[in-house]
Amino acid sequence: MIKDQLERFNRLELLGAPTPLEKLERLSIWAGRDLYVKRDDITPLALGGNKLRKLEYLAADALAQGADTLITAGAIQSNHVRQTAAVAARLGLGCVALLENPIGTQDPHYLNNGNRLLLDLFDARVELVENLDNADEQLQALAERLQSSGRKPYLVPIGGSNALGALGYVRAGFELAEQIRQSGLEFAAVVLASGSAGTHSGLALALAEVLPQLPVIGVTVSRPEETQAPKVQGLAERTAQLLSVPLPPAFKVQLWDEYFGPRYGEPNAGTLSAIKLVASHEGLLLDPVYTGKAMAGLLDGIGRQRFNDGPIIFLHTGGAPALFAYPDVFSGQ
Ligand SMILES: Cc1ncc(COP(=O)(O)O)c(C=O)c1O
Repeated sequence: MIKDQLERFNRLELLGAPTPLEKLERLSIWAGRDLYVKRDDITPLALGGNKLRKLEYLAADALAQGADTLITAGAIQSNHVRQTAAVAARLGLGCVALLENPIGTQDPHYLNNGNRLLLDLFDARVELVENLDNADEQLQALAERLQSSGRKPYLVPIGGSNALGALGYVRAGFELAEQIRQSGLEFAAVVLASGSAGTHSGLALALAEVLPQLPVIGVTVSRPEETQAPKVQGLAERTAQLLSVPLPPAFKVQLWDEYFGPRYGEPNAGTLSAIKLVASHEGLLLDPVYTGKAMAGLLDGIGRQRFNDGPIIFLHTGGAPALFAYPDVFSGQ
């Protein structure tokens, strides 16, 4: 059983209680379908988000290895880098981050506000790079530079998405399955944003074992299905291998890739109206890079009858701090 295997891994307790599973009453009426949200946007550190679950395992490993610095990489507005820097501050570790500007903007809000502003508060050191096309090598080179100056860096991959980080979402899958059991409801699907893939791979792996009939649908935020599917599948396989379990027979990668255009980090009209709709009906904040696109996919999927009957769960992975980096896109919404 995957759950027993999971217990073998070192984990820092950063989350505390399970995140709530809540019904979105007014949005359900609007959509003509019962909608629930799993609130991983309110994990309890530095404005929340999905990365804290991965960092429970990654930071435990960093401490076990005697590291004194977490190094990672991402976009200037990366939620992952923000949460990694916050965990480093919490643990008394240093943090160095390589940041790229994936949309090539000079908008000062994007360059300085939102997640980027918070990095300075956490005392993270930032190095701007042209791109992160070879992120693993770039991080390795940074690690070597830090080592030669006497530091003990621990490399957290982009998005925290290696097999160890994905264990955080294997664990989340069991947490959600227990909440589903307690609700007594039969859900049609779980919908989430699929990016660096650790969230999707880990969650789908656990749910394939305990709720094999429940589809897990990843809405892509940066790639077409053709390139995202092998990423999710490969990471799920490596995660299963780390856990010394076979992939459950029900494991299946399901992706919707019609909602991420024009590209990663750039919202489209559907993204913005989903953010506005959810904010105005529920007081709930989505973000322009990940969850706005995933929710646009969920709502469109209802309209196009892509779901089986039953209520739907949206995994809210956070990201709202990035709203402050994109203030102008909402004029006219
Ligand atoms: C708010 C938010 N949602 C979803 C994701 C995607 O998660 P993953 O990279 O594990 O696919 C991220 C990743 O950075 C994120 O910040």
